[in-house]
Amino acid sequence: MYKERILAIKLQVEAVHAGYGAVKALQGVSLSLEQGQTVALLGTNGNGKSTLMKCLMGMVRPSAGQIVLDIDGQRHDLAQLSTEAIVNLGVALVPEGRRLFPKLTVQENLLLGAFRPSARSSIQENLAFCLEAFPVLAERKNQLAGSMSGGQQQMLAIARAIMSSPRLLLVDEPSVGLSPLLVSQTITKLKELKDQYQLTVLMAEQNFNQAMRIADYGYIIVHGEIVFHGDVPTLKENELVKSYYLGVA
Ligand SMILES: Nc1ncnc2c1ncn2[C@@H]1O[C@H](COP(=O)(O)OP(=O)(O)OP(=O)(O)O)[C@@H](O)[C@H]1O
Ligand SMILES: [Mg+2]
Repeated sequence: MYKERILAIKLQVEAVHAGYGAVKALQGVSLSLEQGQTVALLGTNGNGKSTLMKCLMGMVRPSAGQIVLDIDGQRHDLAQLSTEAIVNLGVALVPEGRRLFPKLTVQENLLLGAFRPSARSSIQENLAFCLEAFPVLAERKNQLAGSMSGGQQQMLAIARAIMSSPRLLLVDEPSVGLSPLLVSQTITKLKELKDQYQLTVLMAEQNFNQAMRIADYGYIIVHGEIVFHGDVPTLKENELVKSYYLGVA
């Protein structure tokens, strides 16, 4: 899937506001992400992480602000595009709660991930890649997705996104509902994908320590606002991080 030349991409979110009726979920969020980077969006429950992911996918429309995806010098305003158009640009979301098709097999779920026209021609190649990268899925390719364990389902959700040959991978809380060991394995898998294939990843997480294992940079979102951002050493020294995420009073 990564035979083709990897194009330079840059995502720039600028002063995005979004909400649901009277609920203001995002209040002027700005962040940026460059080719090959893994950026963590850190926040506890209800602070707007999923809303930002949905804005990036065209599933929630910002009421103000810009979301610009620059691909090889061409600017695309994601806030104006349909979800389908955004997927076709090469943005893939691993949604919160995985959203698999439980009554379809592992392999059928993977094939459904390849509907983006430019990924269709590399279906067999991408499938072979996913089954190799995720041996647990190869062993279980004829098993119904809904009968797999939470960790296996998370791997399948990530692999399904990879089937679309994404240039930008969005992962919404991969750790939810998983045991510490499975969280760690999932993060390790994302790290492998990142290191081997220079995937560009934006990951929403509340598990600070696990997110920091793969992040190059992090943003902390509280009540819909970015209250702090920095590289990993800077984040680890931040008082807010210490009190919210590291259990340091
Ligand atoms: N469909 C919706 N309708 C109304 N309010 C919503 C909807 N989705 C989210 N919200 C509200 O928007 C705010 C941000 O929610 P969001 O799902 O973005 O948070 P989150 O950081 O992803 O939380 P979590 O870690 O629990 O997934 C919350 O106050 C939430 O109640
Ligand atoms: Mg969420």
